[in-house]
Amino acid sequence: MTTIDTHDQSHRQSVARRLLDSSETLSYDPVREVDWETPLDTAHHGASPEWSTLFGTSYWNEMTPEQQRELTRQEAASVASTGIWFEMILQQMILRDFYAKDPTDPAFQWALTEIADECRHSIMFARGAAKLGAPAYRPKRHVVELGRVFKAVAFGEAAYAAILVAEEVLDVMQRDWMRDERVAPFVRTINNIHVVEESRHMKFAREETKARLRGAGRLRKQVNALVVAIAAYHIVTSMVSDQVYANAGLDTKRALREAKANEHHRSMLRSSCAGLMEFLDSCGLLTRPATHFYKRANLI
Ligand SMILES: [Fe+2]
Ligand SMILES: [Fe+2]
Repeated sequence: MTTIDTHDQSHRQSVARRLLDSSETLSYDPVREVDWETPLDTAHHGASPEWSTLFGTSYWNEMTPEQQRELTRQEAASVASTGIWFEMILQQMILRDFYAKDPTDPAFQWALTEIADECRHSIMFARGAAKLGAPAYRPKRHVVELGRVFKAVAFGEAAYAAILVAEEVLDVMQRDWMRDERVAPFVRTINNIHVVEESRHMKFAREETKARLRGAGRLRKQVNALVVAIAAYHIVTSMVSDQVYANAGLDTKRALREAKANEHHRSMLRSSCAGLMEFLDSCGLLTRPATHFYKRANLI
């Protein structure tokens, strides 16, 4: 082992140890922390209205405040449901990544801690979506099947950078929602729990992405940059299901048309991803083909 490898290794271990300490100090049990008992008050939004896919469109302006709130509740439930879908993917990727590795390594123990966090998050999101009065929202069939392949084969920087993208996009929205008094209190608690625990996951995903890339050749980098961008595209475009509009009592065709052309929503996404894109660029993962997909997903 060279000196650099030893240095990398001890850096990774000290990061993992700090993450373990932090999670010991501040972690949540959503079963106890979230108010599941109080019935849903429909005077509340499910998300900050500015994050609605229709905010700023003429359709939005024609809607009653009740309809707007119903829409953001369905949208928040859809984002949570897509979150569950992705958390299942990432749990499997991390579990595969650490299969039969050294259990005395703090990174190994951190990986299992992160999987445990995600497991609690998914249950929390499932209960939250149900409380918001939403049906099961799932990505489109071909996206579900792509995810099935991705979670079975993605490795190294492709896995950790994809994890990072999903977590970062969610993070910015949830930071807004958790502070917003128009949002239902139980949703704010859910978002607060998620933001706190995910900040550790994002730290780990950044470290792992950088570490795995250190040994990667040009071709592998090019391929994985594209894989991550395609994964990001499908994650982001699956966040709000096409079905939310009908469930909020809206005309799906018109809603989809106006949401697609909604420049306000696109700029919210773009500005929330600025830091993430900077990071991917610094890692050499913002190749031209990858940038094409980030543009299509309105992340850049
Ligand atoms: Fe999570
Ligand atoms: Fe996470």
